[in-house]
Amino acid sequence: MTSANSATAARPRLVLGNWKMHGNLADNARLLSQLHAVAAADGTLSARCAIGVCVPFPYLAQVAAALADSPVSWGAQDVSVHEQGAYTGEVSGTMLRDFGCRWALVGHSERRMYHGESDQLVAEKAQAALKAGLTPVVCVGETLQDREAGNTLAVIERQLAPVLALGAESLGKMVLAYEPVWAIGTGLTATPEQAQEVHSAIRVALSGLGAPQVQVLYGGSVKAANAATLFTMPDIDGALVGGASLVAEEFWRIAAAETATV
Ligand code: PGA
Repeated sequence: MTSANSATAARPRLVLGNWKMHGNLADNARLLSQLHAVAAADGTLSARCAIGVCVPFPYLAQVAAALADSPVSWGAQDVSVHEQGAYTGEVSGTMLRDFGCRWALVGHSERRMYHGESDQLVAEKAQAALKAGLTPVVCVGETLQDREAGNTLAVIERQLAPVLALGAESLGKMVLAYEPVWAIGTGLTATPEQAQEVHSAIRVALSGLGAPQVQVLYGGSVKAANAATLFTMPDIDGALVGGASLVAEEFWRIAAAETATV
């Protein structure tokens, strides 16, 4: 496997949780206080691995209050391309900043699939997030059908093209996440080699544009049990974690697993 990664050690590690449309005030309060407790119990981990959670919009105030004095950052799962105006149901980047958000997921496969988000729209959302001072986490990934047809890298290339076109300066302020659709919520994780192949291709593209340091996360059924092996891959810089981010201890063990191999 080739890798354009010449500076693995220099890229900081990042583990982000994606709560998706889960939670309620009472369950969130429990999860957040458990996160606080595990963060306090492992005071040095956050220095080695940045950790954040991306939560449903209505809970941003709750999460901001609960995590304000913790090393865990937070963000949203989507952002509007618009700054403000008559866009019913939309939430702008500046609104997210009001709640102390650091991250905005964009182009998650569930948004692409169920809300018809195009590659171009995803790039525009990434740009809107940047303009608001957020770090967009741009998600890409192929379906099982794409993979079986041998189209994985072509699909990733197509999805990323408008994002890469934003240029090195913008890319340098983003995070990318490779999440094979067939591995999301299915319990089927890409093998470390399958993931590395795609991460390496993304790294080559980033390097070619002068942005080799962009963090590229892997997502899709990441758990404490498989995180360490995934994190041994040279171009995997962390994880975007769905289901397992709803259990504080498991989520924290994923972050700890990756740092154990550094
Ligand atoms: P999963 O979800 O970890 O539950 O597979 C990952 C994601 O969709 O971001």
